[in-house]
Amino acid sequence: MNNLDDQSLSLLFTDAHTAHDFTGEPLPETELRRLHDLVKMAPTSLNSQPMRVVYAQSPDARKRLIGHLSEGNKAKTSSAPTVAILCFDGEFHEWFPTVLPHFAAARDLFADETPRHAFALGQAWLQAGYYILAARSLGYVVGPMTGFNSAGVDGDLLAGTTLKSFCVVNIGQPGENAYKPRNPRVEFSDAVTIL
Ligand SMILES: Cc1cc2nc3c(=O)[nH]c(=O)nc-3n(C[C@H](O)[C@H](O)[C@H](O)COP(=O)(O)O)c2cc1C
Repeated sequence: MNNLDDQSLSLLFTDAHTAHDFTGEPLPETELRRLHDLVKMAPTSLNSQPMRVVYAQSPDARKRLIGHLSEGNKAKTSSAPTVAILCFDGEFHEWFPTVLPHFAAARDLFADETPRHAFALGQAWLQAGYYILAARSLGYVVGPMTGFNSAGVDGDLLAGTTLKSFCVVNIGQPGENAYKPRNPRVEFSDAVTIL
């Protein structure tokens, strides 16, 4: 059987923690590409891949993004060397001829905006999970955050695009105050039913 060793499982899951304080250099574009090349391979419904990533890298972009974060999240992002805005593309269905060539007509199943965006958000969240684990697998710590004003980000940094933000992810190396104590997890007996 092909499987990860305990050290790899620890890096991805068992010892991995959400980080709240960061240090380190910004990820170079080669690393952002490596990260994308992992995330893009993980499965989505109809191979739709609606997630898009916008990195707030320039001082101006970072300042504007931080202005849309909840108060408790501002210092975390200020310390992070790399900050990703995870979005979905509201027009992702236009990509079906490219990503699902044998069923390009899938595009027409998503003519109505409301169900289209609901589908895109669900599949983009799935990709966000892959993104977090892929970043961990490359040796980075991450701090995902939904404590921000997504409408504010959409109207500011994403103005004029078809992108809608749903999560901000801080990425880097752990700073001095990176980790909070682990909270309890829902165990097998409560979370899983075998019928
Ligand atoms: C989708 C998502 C949104 C989150 N939003 C925030 C947030 O806005 N602010 C924050 O401090 N932590 C946020 N967190 C961090 C969670 O509270 C944290 O991942 C969880 O408590 C597990 O912590 P641990 O990895 O250290 O065990 C978020 C985590 C996820 C996955």
